[in-house]
Amino acid sequence: MLAATLGSAVGLGNIWKFPYLTGENGGAGFLLVYVVATLLVGLPVMISEIMLGREARTDAVSGLIKLAPKGQPWWLIAAMGVSAAFLIMSFYSEVAAWVFAYIFKAASGEILSTDPAVTGAAFNSLITEPLQSLLWQWLVLALMGGILLMGVSRGIEAVTKRLMPLLFILLLVIGVRSLTLPGASEGLHFLFSPDFSKVTAGVVLTAMGLAFFKLSIGMGCMMTYGSYFRDDQHIPLTTVRVMCADLFVSMLAGIAIFPAVFAFGFEPSAGPSLLFITIPAVFASIPFGHLFMVLFFVLSAIAATGAMLSILEVPVSVLSERFHMSRTRATLINLLVLGAVGSTCALSSSTLADVQVGGKTFFDLFDFVSSNVLMPLGGIFLCLFVGWVWGFERMTTALTNGGKLAQPILRPLFFIIRYVSPLLILVVMLKGLGLF
Ligand code: PHE
Repeated sequence: MLAATLGSAVGLGNIWKFPYLTGENGGAGFLLVYVVATLLVGLPVMISEIMLGREARTDAVSGLIKLAPKGQPWWLIAAMGVSAAFLIMSFYSEVAAWVFAYIFKAASGEILSTDPAVTGAAFNSLITEPLQSLLWQWLVLALMGGILLMGVSRGIEAVTKRLMPLLFILLLVIGVRSLTLPGASEGLHFLFSPDFSKVTAGVVLTAMGLAFFKLSIGMGCMMTYGSYFRDDQHIPLTTVRVMCADLFVSMLAGIAIFPAVFAFGFEPSAGPSLLFITIPAVFASIPFGHLFMVLFFVLSAIAATGAMLSILEVPVSVLSERFHMSRTRATLINLLVLGAVGSTCALSSSTLADVQVGGKTFFDLFDFVSSNVLMPLGGIFLCLFVGWVWGFERMTTALTNGGKLAQPILRPLFFIIRYVSPLLILVVMLKGLGLF
């Protein structure tokens, strides 16, 4: 299950969201908080969630019903997770749509330029055209449907596993080119030399939300994947491996993008468009850049596919296992609903650009609510469940398979799960949302 878990964690979160949020939130300070949040909150929540999933061996809703004392509504965590899955898929499928569309734009050569005006215009023409945005998104959703219905998601996992190292290498190549551009050092400074005056409560919440999003935790996805874990698989070790690989890919993406942003005079705080307007400029300054850029977007599309399949797995498994629906029906229903709900995100830069809630378009709102509210809330309750309802003994049994594994870390881990993580998440949320 290491490969599948990795396939869920590594995706557009690394290549697209991590760089754009780091750029928007002031660089190094944000990065540091993100890493701390991953260690103090991400890791314990991920271990708890996978452990609960393996113990329950069913979908997230049924799982929590099965594990909780009779009559206590802990399954609501999973219900919240299902709604988070819909919100995430709504905007994620749109970003994936841009990536798929960029494979063709890259192939045509029209975006191969170091001029921000040219790459910016190409991106804008894609997202401001309503029909095009919708069609690409539906195409992506249909593709996910096809993969699920043909029952080849395991096959996709195998492909992802083989291609992941290629993505690492390509990011490394782009990183080296980006670092050797004249003026690149300013980008490194931005990425690694923190300016703490920029780290506000809102920035801390965004960084923590990114940690949740990146590790696919707090919304039932890891619980569902945990239910497929083998009995003797070392959960803490698997989690640490996934976390390290995930951080590593994010860092590579940061190093590929920020030196170039400064070298070419792009805007680090460009927002969700950052990847799409910057990366073509790096490729424009690499021999065979044209080909490499096509390869880059193909690999990104595959990484995005792995993540989307894992998001969909949450509602599909609930419908098929809890409500005994066939997987085909469950998949179709989910995708139809997503085609409707997701289109609000596809149209967020065109027809629906002016429809805003609290100053946010649907796209931004769904992203904000899922990462900064629902997933952290899910994280708090998962920790409380393990720390206070289950207790140390039960956690030890579930994690160690009869005491063979991971003994020395259990006490500190339990302390963190019981007190540190839930409190930390709560304080960061309340402060970040301005409620306290
Ligand atoms: N972690 C995935 C990524 O970085 C996104 C994701 C979020 C997947 C939530 C599953 C659940 O791309």
